[in-house]
Amino acid sequence: MCGIIAYAGHAPAAPELFEGLRKLEYRGYDSAGITTLDRGRLYTAKRAGTVEGLRVDLNNLCGTVGIGHTRWATHGAATAANAHPHVYGRFSVVHNGIIENYSELRSELISAGHAFSSETDSEVIAHLLDVYYDGDPVDALRLTCARLKGCWAIAALCTEFDGYIVTRRGSPVILGRGKGNYAASDIYALSGRAEKYSIPEEGDFALVTPDKITIFDEHLNEVVRPFDILKSNFSEVGTDDCPHYMLKEIRENARTMRATCRAFSSLDLSAVRTRLKCADKIVLIGCGTAYNSALAGVRLLGGAYDCPVSAHIASEARYNPPRVTGRSVCIAVSQSGETADTIMAARIAREAGAYLIAMTNVGYSAITRIADFVLPVCAGAEICVAATKSYIGQLACFHLLSAGTSPSVRDCALENISKKVEEIALDDTYAPGIAKLCVQSRAVFFLGRGYDVDVATEASLKLKEVSYIFSDGYPAGELKHGTLALVDESVLSIVIICDGALAEKSKNAVEQILSRGGKVAVVTTLPPIYAALSGRVQAVWLLPEVPSHLSHFLSSTALQLVAYHAALFAGHNPDKPRNLAKSVTVE
Ligand code: AGP
Repeated sequence: MCGIIAYAGHAPAAPELFEGLRKLEYRGYDSAGITTLDRGRLYTAKRAGTVEGLRVDLNNLCGTVGIGHTRWATHGAATAANAHPHVYGRFSVVHNGIIENYSELRSELISAGHAFSSETDSEVIAHLLDVYYDGDPVDALRLTCARLKGCWAIAALCTEFDGYIVTRRGSPVILGRGKGNYAASDIYALSGRAEKYSIPEEGDFALVTPDKITIFDEHLNEVVRPFDILKSNFSEVGTDDCPHYMLKEIRENARTMRATCRAFSSLDLSAVRTRLKCADKIVLIGCGTAYNSALAGVRLLGGAYDCPVSAHIASEARYNPPRVTGRSVCIAVSQSGETADTIMAARIAREAGAYLIAMTNVGYSAITRIADFVLPVCAGAEICVAATKSYIGQLACFHLLSAGTSPSVRDCALENISKKVEEIALDDTYAPGIAKLCVQSRAVFFLGRGYDVDVATEASLKLKEVSYIFSDGYPAGELKHGTLALVDESVLSIVIICDGALAEKSKNAVEQILSRGGKVAVVTTLPPIYAALSGRVQAVWLLPEVPSHLSHFLSSTALQLVAYHAALFAGHNPDKPRNLAKSVTVE
């Protein structure tokens, strides 16, 4: 969603905040702003567009204390006026989350004579802080939060205090100590700066000066929260020699598989396996790509454990939860570990008695703090909004979880597959051609059966996300029950044929499309399919032959590349799709 950064130290704040915002920009990139504080005066710069736009303002932002924000609009268009920080009276505020009762609060404040300068829900926070301020900024923040409904991470400056205040409820914020005292929406923004970090509890308040961080609980009792060493060095996160994060991250698919294997081999999974073996049901929940990996998880875990396994879209499951008991296992899948719907659905399942496993790429995220067990997806920082390597890592997790015993790195079948994935990710022979067919088409259907249909669902999401081409992922057998009506020469069907047991059936779908004049591209691991369809369809990409249940690593990587090239042909930046944000911390 949005990204927050705050700094109090002895160096100029503006460059610190600017660099932090650049690292947070993947969370939201429609507008950005910074306020600094110097000797009781606030200096603010806000602009629509990317963080880079603020560079020209840096020299005008004085002081060694400040707050910054990169926005993904929820209330009000992406304009400079709606960009954060919001300044009112003595306060300047940045907010991540949603204030659900903002219109009542706004009406109340307007009746009391307040004038608003934005359309956002967040601006009420600055006004309330000024109303409740009576010499103690933390108490003003406590009183303000007591009026809010929704979720928030807030950082604020007050002209009468040489530092900043922070709180969180339902949205992430991390405190960091190092070359100054920091607060940020995620750890990437702290990397290279903070040496230690701490995750405040929900409802905690922090008073941060250039020399000290003081933390209070929700009743304003001073508390000690642990600060851990910040081990990961994300400061190296860049695109390497790739033009975009998306390509770089697809090329890290193989590494993710290997790292996830290694992490599993050092985990004690006995409790988890016992739970799974004795479970009366296993429910998997997630959103978007994480949900799509759960679809593959249903197939893999369903073949390994003797109980029903089902996948649920978290935004539905939280309002219509799958029934669970004390014998059930719920696996919440989330790259970021911060997705509001997934956290809420997971919480509901746990409260109903289920054993909760968090499968996540971010070890210190919110989902890990409510889970009984954390399964690590070792993808490393994923910056591109479109999930690629984290999806592959989630698939690897499901494979490892469905393996009978804890696999060692050496004999892990995934290790061998990862080498083939590596080759595919570096191959640019086929993907651009198929991508060109996509952008020349009115719509693109991804079709498959068995293992291939899960790949089709995710490949379709990837294509629409970065190329904005209409697309759907569909079971090939359903074609004749309706979708075939849409097929003509302006529609491309990408048929995935890697599930050997169902290959002939999928080939029938190709024949049905061809006989209606539709365009077809085929992605297959099966040489006979390649031989039968070469020259008869627009394109065939023959991948290395592997067992069906492992083929999704290869076909997904291939189709991620197709989506990447389609974005480029369509003239879009694949790393920052319009209207989207990486981490969806609002409902
Ligand atoms: C993936 O490409 C998407 N950007 C999106 O669907 C994402 O997978 C979804 O929002 C869930 O995020 P999470 O894995 O961080 O929970």
